[in-house]
Amino acid sequence: MWLPINLEGQESNMVAKGMKMSASDIYSVNNGSLKDAIVHFGGFCTGEVISSKGLVLTNHHCGYSAIQSHSSIDDDYLKDGFWALSEEMEKPNDGLYVDFIVSIEDVSNEVLVYLDSGMTEKEAFKAVLNSHQTQGLAMRSEVRSIYYGNQFILIVSQRFSDVRLVGAPPSAVGKFGADTDNWVWPRHTGDFSMFRIYTAPDGSPSEYSNKNIPMVSKNPLTISLSGVNEGDFSMIYGFPGRTTSYLPVNEVAQQINTMLPIRVKLRDIVLSTWDSAMRLDPMIKIQYASKYASVSNGWKKWIGQMEGMSASYGLDTLRYRQEQVVKYHSANHDDAFRALDLVEEFNNQISFLEKERQSVLYYQEILPRWGLLRWSRLANDIVNDSDNKVDLVKSIKVLKDFERNYNPELDRRASKGLINSWIEAGLKDTLLNVPVKYLMETSAFMQGLFNKDLYDSLPIKSHDKLDSIFVEQCRNHLAFNLWPDLLSQYRELIAKTRQKEIKFKSGMKEWMRLYMIANNSRGRDVAPDANSSMRVSWGEIGGFSPKDGKRYNYKTTAKGILEKYIPGDYEFDLPSDFRMKLESMDYGKYADEDGELPVCFLAANHTTGGNSGSPALNSKGHLIGLNFDRVWEGTMSDFYFAPERCRNIMVDVRYIMWVVDKYAGADRLISEINFAN
Ligand code: ARG
Ligand code: GLU
Repeated sequence: MWLPINLEGQESNMVAKGMKMSASDIYSVNNGSLKDAIVHFGGFCTGEVISSKGLVLTNHHCGYSAIQSHSSIDDDYLKDGFWALSEEMEKPNDGLYVDFIVSIEDVSNEVLVYLDSGMTEKEAFKAVLNSHQTQGLAMRSEVRSIYYGNQFILIVSQRFSDVRLVGAPPSAVGKFGADTDNWVWPRHTGDFSMFRIYTAPDGSPSEYSNKNIPMVSKNPLTISLSGVNEGDFSMIYGFPGRTTSYLPVNEVAQQINTMLPIRVKLRDIVLSTWDSAMRLDPMIKIQYASKYASVSNGWKKWIGQMEGMSASYGLDTLRYRQEQVVKYHSANHDDAFRALDLVEEFNNQISFLEKERQSVLYYQEILPRWGLLRWSRLANDIVNDSDNKVDLVKSIKVLKDFERNYNPELDRRASKGLINSWIEAGLKDTLLNVPVKYLMETSAFMQGLFNKDLYDSLPIKSHDKLDSIFVEQCRNHLAFNLWPDLLSQYRELIAKTRQKEIKFKSGMKEWMRLYMIANNSRGRDVAPDANSSMRVSWGEIGGFSPKDGKRYNYKTTAKGILEKYIPGDYEFDLPSDFRMKLESMDYGKYADEDGELPVCFLAANHTTGGNSGSPALNSKGHLIGLNFDRVWEGTMSDFYFAPERCRNIMVDVRYIMWVVDKYAGADRLISEINFAN
């Protein structure tokens, strides 16, 4: 995951692997480059401009809440898809924005001078920003630390806040296979949606206005329909969120062996309770589908990480790498034992912190899942607003949104499992900071925290009453204090661990420096860990072997969609018009060399969360696919990238174009796109 400003050093490797561009075709400040087409979509995903009229491609799961917000029972765009037939029909989205990167600059020297003068990092960043004032509308600048404080970059970006929904396939296509297929290969999901950036008539960024016009984009991506082959060069350009590839091995071991199993165990409880209720009750299915998807997304990834780490002997490799660094410095450095000492300090801190980290983890997993607690939090907001004479409309609306997707009995059952396992952990392991006493006392006081009455008596859906009566009902409910009580316990715990975690981090700065020196001495460049800044990864297209005797092909085709089709199933059903279109096999120019319609493909690009919606580019920089996932056998790439089993999953752009062209019949979109010949 290279910084685009550091690509020159990679250029010869990339060319050796088949790239037919120069580093400056990928990133340049003063000349047009691929960079100009890449956007940070809403701050959580990546998108790319694919027409000179500001058309943006990203994932269906990235556009999901925008699509959902325009949906109703009568116009259910999640279910049926949505295609604006004209620009007038494109739908504005309150709060949605895209950021273009204007420039990235290495400002390490400046920051270091400030730091040496005794400033804190925060003060130093501020001083740098002051001396680099940027001109222009909606410009934003920030200084970011790279390599744990060994390098600093100044990122200037420009924000466009009128981003309208243009098109989305039905969820049966965009989310095909849903949670069962999530993180899984072979994959057949058409995970894409389309938006358009609008600007003021003079081309400048502007909030939504009906006077705005489609953005005139200088350097949209060109789309290639010539397809991909095993071994081809590919590249992912986007905004990966977070990786931790250089942590001390004991730290990774603690994550994998201690922390992830706790998370997975707690999510098992929630997911299995929700799942059985969702299967029985279609109303609960609707209410909990989105919560289920997000809880299960992490759960499945972590299981993959634990298994992948073990299958690839990842901890052994990380330990070996760590030892190499220690060895190098012991042999070459004036400060011969510093690396060795650091590792020892880390190891002490890691075991010292273990219990507190575990305790924090229980809070982090349980508090957000416990609906009653959420109710208590929102009820507190309402009561506070009322006591402070603030209008209650806003806080009551938040509560209403919560109630719409809340089932008290299901919450009672799921959280009972969670709290019991929390209490159990606290009783068994007295070093853990679990509020056992509070939970037990509370439960006695309330005649059982999980008494049905407690849940049944929530003043739910009763806000049509006079505000004053409703406020008192909230204030007097037995669960009212649950949130403030647990929050204060949690804050206390966090305050206790913070100083130790800060100390740990400062060790990382030194360690990272020693790590880079040792690797550079052997001619190896070290790519910085992801931190949501713009990055480029590159790798070969290709399948892999997840297990002895088993081989995954690098691509899937539409045949597999029909193979997976299960009528009436909520994950694998297909709308009949879509199925008929597929069965007619009218693939036109979107077919591959065997006459099949390509759907998804794999490559060995290092990606992580945030790379969703990132363009997959070929050796000439043409768009060949859209990144949306990784194979779960390789999700441990967040700690350890093993080229033999880590693969990112992309939708083939030919499938996307087939859906837009042949299924949706959106000619007006196809005609504004540049295809390579
Ligand atoms: N696994 C992908 C990612 O991490 C897709 C998640 C959305 N899809 C889902 N079924 N939950 O974000
Ligand atoms: N689906 C992920 C995202 O939303 C990308 C998959 C990954 O974690 O690599 O960013």
